[in-house]
Amino acid sequence: LARGAAEPDLRGRHVVVSAGGTREPLDPVRYLGNRSSGKQGYALARTAAARGARVTLIAANATLPDPAGVDVVHVGTAVQLREAVLKAASEADAVVMAAAVADFRPATYAAGKIKKKDGQEPEPITLVRNPDILAEIAGDRPRPGQVVVGFAAETDDVLANGRAKLERKGCDLLVVNEVGEAKTFGAEENEAVVLGADGSETHVPHGPKEALADTVWDLVVPRFT
Ligand code: CTP
Ligand code: CA
Repeated sequence: LARGAAEPDLRGRHVVVSAGGTREPLDPVRYLGNRSSGKQGYALARTAAARGARVTLIAANATLPDPAGVDVVHVGTAVQLREAVLKAASEADAVVMAAAVADFRPATYAAGKIKKKDGQEPEPITLVRNPDILAEIAGDRPRPGQVVVGFAAETDDVLANGRAKLERKGCDLLVVNEVGEAKTFGAEENEAVVLGADGSETHVPHGPKEALADTVWDLVVPRFT
């Protein structure tokens, strides 16, 4: 993090980072969740703070220690994450959506624990769509000139999928990870390609999540207007 001290290029900037993974409750004891650890989002928050930014970290179910000098807002569901991100984004210079947001949530929440019934098959779970926070912010920027960054975990044709997603979401940068069983989730290291809406493509070699985070900020800074 020596780099942060040498180069406080985010001084005077407010950045919002989301991290972790949302959980969508079914009943008081169960939820639909995902395997995001929050490490990449926390690395983004730490590196931004080291480079002089005021940082708001919206953490969804991450169990990592709150980074020093960072405002942390803890949330559970995608709907709560949306509210917290929109609130913080209204005065932010950049929004980075590193959180894994559940695309769907159970249509109903059972106030009491769901029980087995003798001789009966379980009821199917009906899901409804969650709001797309990144698309909403990118399409209607809370602050003019705000830089909006998304993350995507892809398999198969990673670059083509990433390029299509960048356009669909309308963000300025999309960090694309290739995922597999042993890759990315919970890992200490990451490898990614950062796609820009201007057509740029920045390959980040396998390395610590801090290094990828610093590359993201390197790409955000020149996009500030
Ligand atoms: N995202 C979001 N709100 C959602 C879903 C995703 O803000 N409801 C954000 C994520 O934080 C991430 C980016 O969108 O920065 C891409 O997430 P991803 O799941 O890859 O995109 P989806 O549009 O949900 O596409 P897919 O069907 O491949 O899951
Ligand atoms: Ca998704």
